[in-house]
Amino acid sequence: WHNRGAMAVVPTTPREIEQAARVIREGGLVAFPTETVYGLGANALDASAVARIFEAKRRPSLDPLIVHVADRAMLLRVAREVPPQVEPLMEKFWPGPLTLVLPKAEAVPGIVTSGLPTVAVRMPAHPVALELIRQAGLPIAAPSANPFGYLSPTRAEHVERMLGEAVDLILDGGPTLYGVESTILLLAEKPVVLRHGAIPLEELESILGRVELRVGESVRPLVPGQLPQHYAPRTPIQVARPDEVPKELRKQSGYLAFRDVPKGFKIVKVLSPTGDLREAAAHLFEALHQLDRLGLPAIYAEPVPEEGLGRAIMDRLRRATVRD
Ligand code: TXA
Ligand code: MG
Repeated sequence: WHNRGAMAVVPTTPREIEQAARVIREGGLVAFPTETVYGLGANALDASAVARIFEAKRRPSLDPLIVHVADRAMLLRVAREVPPQVEPLMEKFWPGPLTLVLPKAEAVPGIVTSGLPTVAVRMPAHPVALELIRQAGLPIAAPSANPFGYLSPTRAEHVERMLGEAVDLILDGGPTLYGVESTILLLAEKPVVLRHGAIPLEELESILGRVELRVGESVRPLVPGQLPQHYAPRTPIQVARPDEVPKELRKQSGYLAFRDVPKGFKIVKVLSPTGDLREAAAHLFEALHQLDRLGLPAIYAEPVPEEGLGRAIMDRLRRATVRD
């Protein structure tokens, strides 16, 4: 793709999706909306197109990507095998924010999976994403469309600000529905959640029975999204209840509150006035992007209940706060 640097935010008319599909087929990079966060997509079967994703994100190549498919035929192009225990999960959660780690097919280049014998696949529940994949006629490898380690994008403008130069085209689908990434499930002998995300653990357990958690560990030396520090704003951030923050610091700091506005902070963003974890997740990255732009000396974030979507929220907050 030769149009480097000439990125444009494109409204998602059918024509524009067609244009984006052409960019994908020609080996270019398209940022597109999904129901979770915006993805930075390339042809999953073209190693050099995928290499451009790593370049654009400045992402270590040991971090495998998620492959997005639009239908079952495409799934079978990237997964060597679809174990029977996967069927009820696909039935219930696809299209949707559940990523399944399956045995990889030959056709998927090693750069996509960072050499792993498995491939992470999902079918996004967003009409623009699905139409893009369908029209490209190819599975699309796409990480979140943010520079490596930084806050994930939940709006087209976030992508434009963070990666505009490096992307050939951005499809604008408005703010994303879930606001946190997909849940990643590995189906080994036992099902294992590798990343908390938009499908709550409780929902998976209602189908699978007990599910193991391996969210802090890596299947590889470097599997970000599992790295201790990730999803981080530039401003130092810490998880703390309002009363744990000394008065002096409050005056100059931002506070990311769950439901109530605490006193004494310079600026407060509330994730969900009604205390709804789903709404809080949807606003999480947007609120952090806003706070991060203010150039404050510090941001504090209120812990939320660790149930349902609260697990994904706390996972993102904890990773954002680790500093070595
Ligand atoms: O919601 C989402 O999943 C978004 C949208 C764009 O679909 N995508 C996303 O991709 O979050 P990304 O690249 O930010 O996260 C991919 C993560 C990797 O960091 C790794 O933890 C895991 O998926 N992953 C990918 N392939 C894997 C594999 N074969 N085995 C285990 N984990 C894998
Ligand atoms: Mg990411």
